[in-house]
Amino acid sequence: MEIVICADQESVGQAAADTFESVIRRKPNAVVGLATGSSPLPLYEELERRTLHGRLTFRNARAFTLDEYIGLPEGHPETYKEVIDRVFTTRVDIEPANVRGPNGNAPDLEIEASDYERAILAAGGIDVQVLGVGTNGHIGFNEPGSSLGSRTRVKTLLPQTRLDNARFFTDQEEVPHHVITQGIGTIMDARRVVLMATGEQKAGAVARLAEGSVSAMCPGSMLQLHPRVRVIIDEAAASQLALADYYRYTYQNKPAWQHL
Ligand code: GLP
Repeated sequence: MEIVICADQESVGQAAADTFESVIRRKPNAVVGLATGSSPLPLYEELERRTLHGRLTFRNARAFTLDEYIGLPEGHPETYKEVIDRVFTTRVDIEPANVRGPNGNAPDLEIEASDYERAILAAGGIDVQVLGVGTNGHIGFNEPGSSLGSRTRVKTLLPQTRLDNARFFTDQEEVPHHVITQGIGTIMDARRVVLMATGEQKAGAVARLAEGSVSAMCPGSMLQLHPRVRVIIDEAAASQLALADYYRYTYQNKPAWQHL
């Protein structure tokens, strides 16, 4: 796990975009894994800038999103399909048909979940996955207690997660109770993972996922077992890390030959 501590949100976005750019340069038809939430926004803004400047193209890329609410009407602005359209698909030059997410209104959600797993496999697997982290350590919508080997399936949200996400809705009661999410096992199959977190409210989750025990009580801690993870955070999100100085030293003195 490489931990990169940045001065501000903008540099968090740039560092994450560097990883995406290096993957897409090497493999123009890469499969990228997208996340919703506020954390990845600086990455998407930077990817838009780099695309506009002709430095990067998603023309041949494909994308899969992590998760979706169940039961929000199609076209509701807070469905993750609409969110990803707004923050990513319409901002870069990716073919909209090449961006796929789980359908939270599928008639049979178990079939939808296994179809989604199959679609990711058929696309060759995810080359680079961006993640945020919930205040309780969840990744995707894998709440504490999720099986560490789980695949795409339906989950029930914890009250705290519904409360955290209520800011996107007019009424807290509107936040769905159920979601369909890639499992932790699905996320672990991505070839590279970039986890982004900013702000003091994420400091506890970041410390537990990077330095705590691997436990279903902090789903993000499973990433300690992944061979290629970059955790890109700002100073506030780094404020509870025991080895923060070591991570800073390591990153500042990283040899040019040591790619992620
Ligand atoms: C939601 C999403 C996660 C995201 C988390 C944190 O629950 N399903 O993918 O990482 O929120 O969101 P934010 O980045 O807005 O703090």
